[in-house]
Amino acid sequence: MAAASSSAVEKPFVIAIDGPAASGKGTLARRLAATFNLPHLDTGLTYRAVAKAMMEAGKALDDEPAAVATALALDLGKLDRTELAVHEIGSAASKVAPLPKLRQALVEAQRAFALGGAVLDGRDIGTVVCPDAQAKLFVTASVEERARRRWNEERLRDGATEDGDALFETILDDIKRRDARDMGRADSPLRPAADAHLLDTSDLDIEAAYAQALDIVSRARS
Ligand code: DC
Repeated sequence: MAAASSSAVEKPFVIAIDGPAASGKGTLARRLAATFNLPHLDTGLTYRAVAKAMMEAGKALDDEPAAVATALALDLGKLDRTELAVHEIGSAASKVAPLPKLRQALVEAQRAFALGGAVLDGRDIGTVVCPDAQAKLFVTASVEERARRRWNEERLRDGATEDGDALFETILDDIKRRDARDMGRADSPLRPAADAHLLDTSDLDIEAAYAQALDIVSRARS
């Protein structure tokens, strides 16, 4: 008689990575996705794409029906990271993000993406989008360190065209405001899931942060 199928069908492996703006979660998510050969979705891009399309269409960022319609027309396979990376779009994204019906529409699309196994990063992946994810990371860094990283990125991209100190202060203020919006909203605020592993990258370079993330995920997988 053929051996009874003893091996249960393996559950698709999902890695949930959350954290505040500029914590380094995106870089870690991309590298983990490559290592574990999983598709990756940066869910921040979904909110950014909605915000950008709304601004282009001249819609107010609190127009919920327009935001939902924009979200339903989104193609998750066509999110252009370079185009959406601009700081102002990130700020606008944190203003559309509190709209509950918009979140509902995007969360549904994000869950569908995760069905076969995936790495997702954002603010509410471990708590709301994929609460059953096998590996959950909450990546943080001090607000000054996160502002410094964004400042370096902006200066590399645009050259030193602005007074560096003034630019740093602007970015620092903006990140503080975004933190307050992301953590303070009623629907799915940014917070670590009870079973998330905390990873503070304030004093870690990317290689050291990745080594720790890999260790956490490898343990969860075995
Ligand atoms: O990660 P990011 O900077 O690209 O995200 C932009 C904004 O999108 C962020 O300020 C809040 C929102 N966001 C969210 O509410 N939930 C997510 N899962 C991802 C992003």
